[in-house]
Amino acid sequence: IDEGYQKTYKKLEEMLETLPKGGDQTLGHGLFLYKGFWLPDIHIKGNMLIHDHFKPRPTDIVLSSFPKCGTTWLKALCFAIINRNSYNFDKNHPLLTSNPHDLTGLGFERLIQEGGSTSLVETLPSPRLLPTHLAFSLFPDSMASGSGACRFVYICRNPKDAFVSLWHFFNKLRRLKQVPQLSLEDAFDSFSKGVSFLGPFWDHVLGYWKASLESPNKVLFLKYEDMMREPSVYVRKLAEFLDLPFSEDEENEGIVEKIVNLCSFENLSNLDVNKNNNIIKAGLVNTSSFFRKGQVGDWINHLSPEMVKVLDQITQESFQASSLEL
Ligand code: A3P
Repeated sequence: IDEGYQKTYKKLEEMLETLPKGGDQTLGHGLFLYKGFWLPDIHIKGNMLIHDHFKPRPTDIVLSSFPKCGTTWLKALCFAIINRNSYNFDKNHPLLTSNPHDLTGLGFERLIQEGGSTSLVETLPSPRLLPTHLAFSLFPDSMASGSGACRFVYICRNPKDAFVSLWHFFNKLRRLKQVPQLSLEDAFDSFSKGVSFLGPFWDHVLGYWKASLESPNKVLFLKYEDMMREPSVYVRKLAEFLDLPFSEDEENEGIVEKIVNLCSFENLSNLDVNKNNNIIKAGLVNTSSFFRKGQVGDWINHLSPEMVKVLDQITQESFQASSLEL
């Protein structure tokens, strides 16, 4: 490893010791409060490598989300839109035999961290799809603004559904890794205090929301609920944002519906690749763990009226100065 990387690693080690540590909200590893967000050490390392060594390209498309807000769906949709001329939707489409995370990578901050350098990401052809859970403010200025800025697509979701989905997901992982389960009450307490994987939820969302208002051509802000209601409207929006609008011929042959159907929860969750104890390439998780119910409003089956009141109040207070509603 060259000297530049050594410097970054040393800086990381020294810094980790100084950061506030939060409880065990993931797989038994603690979280660190880093620049306003609660991250596992691997995400901090990935973020530092991005700052010190990653070379952004203006053609880069960063696919961003708060965890459990529709990352898998967004990856599938973008992959399907970008590669729509390369495959047959019924026969040889990669989404029929590969989990969306395996087609785009889990997170580019992870890829960099796992590879120990940015080289794997630097060799990807343009336009690169760069998935991430990192907050907008954690990216270098060169990626966020100016002539070399990248494009960001962000998906978020109602915080009550996001929390319930997150709680289920981590308990599934914990069962797999034989780590004790997190009670709903403890997880709720941490989430509402902002101490959750990549939290605070509200700051994460607001960062992208503000960026999307300042630079609508660079940051597309999507809501899971809107997309569930009118998926084809948002597939068109996504394609336009990616500079790949559908032609009249494509519209006539129903390509938008084909993409919507291919990427739907019903279709993806019933494919063999996303069932049967298959594991994603990056290890860690079953392909099936990314598909649970795929519904809006499942929080009603889990949260007490008191919990609902708490989350609604935080959401209202956090967003009242902006025009954002979730
Ligand atoms: P639920 O746990 O509420 O069912 P992420 O992809 O960010 O990890 O988010 C996972 C959530 O999105 C889960 O929500 C999952 O069921 C849902 N989901 C996964 N694929 C989907 C799809 N193609 N369409 C709609 N929702 C999807």
